Amino acid sequence: MSHHIAFGVDIGGSGIKGAPVDLKKGEFADDRVRIPTPQPATPDAVAETVAQVVDSFKLDKKVPIGVTFPAVILHGVAQSAANVDKSWIGTDVEKAVGKATGREVFAVNDADAAGYAEVAYGAAKGVKGVVLVVTLGTGIGSALVVDGHLVPNTELGHLEIDGHDAESRAAEAVRDREGLDWEQWAQRLQRYFTVVENLFWPDLIVVGGGVSKKHAEFLPLLDLRTKIVPAELRNAAGIVGAAALAAKAH
Ligand code: BGC
Repeated sequence: MSHHIAFGVDIGGSGIKGAPVDLKKGEFADDRVRIPTPQPATPDAVAETVAQVVDSFKLDKKVPIGVTFPAVILHGVAQSAANVDKSWIGTDVEKAVGKATGREVFAVNDADAAGYAEVAYGAAKGVKGVVLVVTLGTGIGSALVVDGHLVPNTELGHLEIDGHDAESRAAEAVRDREGLDWEQWAQRLQRYFTVVENLFWPDLIVVGGGVSKKHAEFLPLLDLRTKIVPAELRNAAGIVGAAALAAKAH
């Protein structure tokens, strides 16, 4: 069955955000609802909050629901917890949120959702070949999309580069934490993206995450072989991608 509307939920460190998505346009079909992430962000507390977000809308039971989570998600189960409560490791996100919402739920890594949305509706729309979407935020997330198909859980934020976990040197949060100016941060990104392009040889790199709206400050400072462009869907990408992937999985 093909769907026109699906619901996306973005589970982030500070907020849990959801909206129905028009799958033809790749846009919200109604205003987004945001509820602060409960602290500690344990699976039960988060699942209950997701249910509150979903229940803010009058949704048909058949509407597919997709949720993003910032960890490796294998067949619905969280396998890692780099920047989230460790109690998530081994949690079946689809089951936990499914139970709280009383609905069938599809769970996907946050960067995979955002990346898929950029390919389906945004900066990489219609691009054939290998697209790599990298989200710069608290950590570094990655999505590898080949001819429109997502290769899930690439986790390229955790490449070991010069003896460091890459995201501990080049994430947006590091720029903040270490007080780096744009040039200094761009040097870190230069090193990161050089390694990435030499390993994956993508046709296009898309840079997402909140900082992508300030792309003019740092993208022109990078000297790469690969074309690199800012994401277009900005903070809607996770919700839109989760909804689209849930509809596909349904
Ligand atoms: C996690 C990824 C996640 C990324 C962005 C990384 O630390 O390992 O799963 O996609 O952060 O949130």
